[in-house]
Amino acid sequence: MKTIHISLSPNLESDDLKLSISKLINPFIWKKTNYQNKLIQSLNQIFPTSQAFLFNSGRSGLQLALQSLNLPKKSEIITQAFTCSAVINPILANQLKPVYADIKLNSFNLNHLQLNKLLTPKTKAIIIQHTFGTPANLRAIRSFVQKHNLLLIEDCAHSLGAHYQNKPLGSFGDITLLSFGRDKIISSVFGGAILINNPHLLPSFKKLYSKLKLPNHLWTTQQLLHPPLSYLAKKTYHLQIGKLILLLSQKLKLISRAIYPQEKIHQTPTVFPAKLPNPLAHLALNQLNKLSTFNLHRQKIALIYQKKIINPKLKKPQLSKNSIYLRYNILLSNPQNLFTYLKKNQIIAGDWYSQPITPSNNLKLTLYTKGSCPNAEKACQQNLNLPTHPTLSIKQVTKIIYLLNKFK
Ligand SMILES: Cc1ncc(COP(=O)(O)O)c(C=O)c1O
Repeated sequence: MKTIHISLSPNLESDDLKLSISKLINPFIWKKTNYQNKLIQSLNQIFPTSQAFLFNSGRSGLQLALQSLNLPKKSEIITQAFTCSAVINPILANQLKPVYADIKLNSFNLNHLQLNKLLTPKTKAIIIQHTFGTPANLRAIRSFVQKHNLLLIEDCAHSLGAHYQNKPLGSFGDITLLSFGRDKIISSVFGGAILINNPHLLPSFKKLYSKLKLPNHLWTTQQLLHPPLSYLAKKTYHLQIGKLILLLSQKLKLISRAIYPQEKIHQTPTVFPAKLPNPLAHLALNQLNKLSTFNLHRQKIALIYQKKIINPKLKKPQLSKNSIYLRYNILLSNPQNLFTYLKKNQIIAGDWYSQPITPSNNLKLTLYTKGSCPNAEKACQQNLNLPTHPTLSIKQVTKIIYLLNKFK
């Protein structure tokens, strides 16, 4: 059986592959139709009370959105530990201070009971992450935000298409981040959007956005090469050739990595922030049209895991009917053994997140204090993500479950 890989173009279907190849073969197609506008229109249909702006990544958008708030230096932004450096780096880039709240272990989301003790006169905003597609406790967090006159930023990088109280996640805050990264809900390799829900924030944001440039053609070509090369790598991974294709493509810079090396020391690459190029907007739009099919598939697989995993060593998450399960996260005392065992059986599982802020070569730079978020640290030591992605078949899920239940 072919390798199951949680993060190697997990959303890539044949129509997406053809699309990227057609754009590589005939770059003039890039200019024919304005897919940026079409993508914005589609996002505005999902989020009718917001205005959408496209970026070459979610982190790009967050960086510009935070800049547009014109907050005093060292203003505090509360966010959860157990997150991605892509959330923290834009805060640091704006000379603001991330303040870390611990998480709940049943949802991997911010524990709102922490908020009171973290609040100071310098607190200006809360970034709320719907981890793995499970809605955070928006009711409690919104009432806290309103009471203390703070801004609410929803991080929907994992949760596009999920709902809370019958409204789409992303329509509850002042600002929303969406990601179209390679292993997110929908993918254009790199890409994202910011939704501005609070009209008071629009003028300053628009002013900055109007000055923003597109990345150069070389960068865009690199992203368009990702689908075909990762497809080839995936198809041949079990023969070891795939690994070689992947390594060589990265080494020769034919394809990008999800995180640039300087981001691991919490600096910003020159390509961020920038607008989303037209061909990548087309890839994102093609995937957005499949959003509900993708998410139904993820939910179906999560339910199967929940029913069929019976190994008492593995702690399953609490299911939430509103979650869309970008990944199905389990906890166990020594996940490394399980990673190795699955890998021997051609299954590459995920490790989001292996540090309270991941990836990082120097956690001190993130201003995270070791021991301050014990649940987040526990989750980092114990977690293993199982795949739920659109191209994962039920046969493959059955194999994963069989192996998990045999694991000692
Ligand atoms: C929780 C979370 N928020 C935001 C981001 C940023 O998204 P992007 O990769 O599009 O910059 C990521 C991933 O990188 C993420 O995991």
